[in-house]
Amino acid sequence: MSFMRKVSQKFLKQIAMLSTLLLVVAAVCQRPGWRAIAQSAPVDQAVEDARQMVIDGRRVFRFDTFGDEVFWGDTLKLHQAIQGSRLGGVGDGLSPQAALNLGLKVDAEVVPTAVADQIKSGQLSLKDPANTLALLKLNAVVGVTGFFDGDQLRAIGIQCALCHSTVDDSFLPGIGKRLDGWPNRDLDIGKIVALAPDLRAFAELLMVDQNTVRTVLQSWGPGKFDAELSLDGKAFNPDNGGKSAATLIPPAFGLAGVNLHTWTGWGGVSHWNAFVANIEMHGVGRFFDPRLNDPKFRIAVRGGFADIKVDPANDRITKQLPALQVYQLSLRAPKPVDSSFNRDAAARGQRLFDGKAQCNNCHVRPLFTEPGWNMHTPQEVCIDSFQADRSPDRRYRTAPLAGLFAHQKGGFYHDGRFETLNQVLDHYNTCRSLGLSSQEKTDVIQYLLSL
Ligand code: HEC
Ligand code: HEC
Repeated sequence: MSFMRKVSQKFLKQIAMLSTLLLVVAAVCQRPGWRAIAQSAPVDQAVEDARQMVIDGRRVFRFDTFGDEVFWGDTLKLHQAIQGSRLGGVGDGLSPQAALNLGLKVDAEVVPTAVADQIKSGQLSLKDPANTLALLKLNAVVGVTGFFDGDQLRAIGIQCALCHSTVDDSFLPGIGKRLDGWPNRDLDIGKIVALAPDLRAFAELLMVDQNTVRTVLQSWGPGKFDAELSLDGKAFNPDNGGKSAATLIPPAFGLAGVNLHTWTGWGGVSHWNAFVANIEMHGVGRFFDPRLNDPKFRIAVRGGFADIKVDPANDRITKQLPALQVYQLSLRAPKPVDSSFNRDAAARGQRLFDGKAQCNNCHVRPLFTEPGWNMHTPQEVCIDSFQADRSPDRRYRTAPLAGLFAHQKGGFYHDGRFETLNQVLDHYNTCRSLGLSSQEKTDVIQYLLSL
């Protein structure tokens, strides 16, 4: 055999081996899992699923009424008060200006440019309830959905975003881009509900007359709501000068890693979501929490809230819980702009927070609540037990502090009893005998404002 033939035979053999190898590789790549890897840059199924959950959860948080329009519309007839008698409802109606004054927010991103121009130039009257209806038709009122028959408002429903979103005021005060998770501390939800012409449902539930219901609703004030009223019927705190029992709307951002939620640690995010959607928003779903079968929750016991049942085919809430939870946990606390606090003071404040002031004992960085069972007795934070006693564990939850700058309006602690951070620091100084000087208190406050 000539040298040349030997070489080309060897060459042919190699080609044959190579093509077999290629065939094997090609066959393997046809398997579904491998195909995905082969076709594009790595697709990480878990990341993809999480992405889809966040998108779905945001839709639920902003737009899902869970069927609660039957309650707010058919039962309370709140839509009639918005519409006003001139447009087929009752009373004066709710003008856009009145709505903004009650703290309702408008999503500027869905308002068409032509309408926005008319608002800016004053051509579109903010005094005319017809324009509130127009905004509802555009789905521009944050957290409120109008249901229309032609031009007639037939019902309204509410969403999580009503209380847990606000806007950045970039267009006009109260009108701008949505900020999900930011508590709406302008929203006077009590006054809004009190507009409803028919409060019989609340009166029957609470076993009082409609005027009493209205008085209670009007006592809440901006940024507050009383989630426990429909459990125990308590409206005023005798241990705090008979003030309203309503609590501040907390942020729904910065909650990842936090064990128990709400001011009094009712449960995890998903527990509370199911609770609110069923018991507060009056959506249609299933809820189970046998802790409500406690005589202290006399209204809940009478109403059977510990075990709310619904035909599974009609359950509008349960199927939304997974994505809703993922969305909330994905909302990071916003960061304050640098110019809003003093850097040097904040750096000194952080050392005090960790050291002399003992704040980090409970507000553990970076969660700013305890990793673990984040609950304390009222005595540990030197306040009355009224609100704690309205919950299963009779304790207060260590409030997560990230993004604190974004919810200073309405004050601090569950009921806003401390109007300023100065008062908060004075309180801890006395309660825990910290011996902080006024300079040290100022430094800790600058740190709190930097979170
Ligand atoms: C009418 C206003 C209102 C609406 C609507 C509302 N919430 Fe809340 N939310 C509150 C208030 C007030 C609290 C505090 C309750 C308490 O501590 O007793 C709260 C607490 C929470 C918390 C606990 C936050 C923390 O600090 O740990 C979460 C999470 C939450 N809500 C999510 C939701 C979701 C999701 C929806 C929609 C299904 C919703 N809320 C609808 C007013 C509202
Ligand atoms: C024993 C645990 C504990 C310690 C120590 C502690 N806190 Fe708190 N903190 C809490 C609890 C519990 C709450 C919630 C009180 C309530 O709901 O009324 C809270 C609430 C707050 C709030 C209000 C948050 C809001 O959203 O309104 C601020 C601000 C705060 N703490 C700052 C501090 C600072 C500053 C220190 C150190 C000087 C400190 N805390 C020390 C447990 C603690």
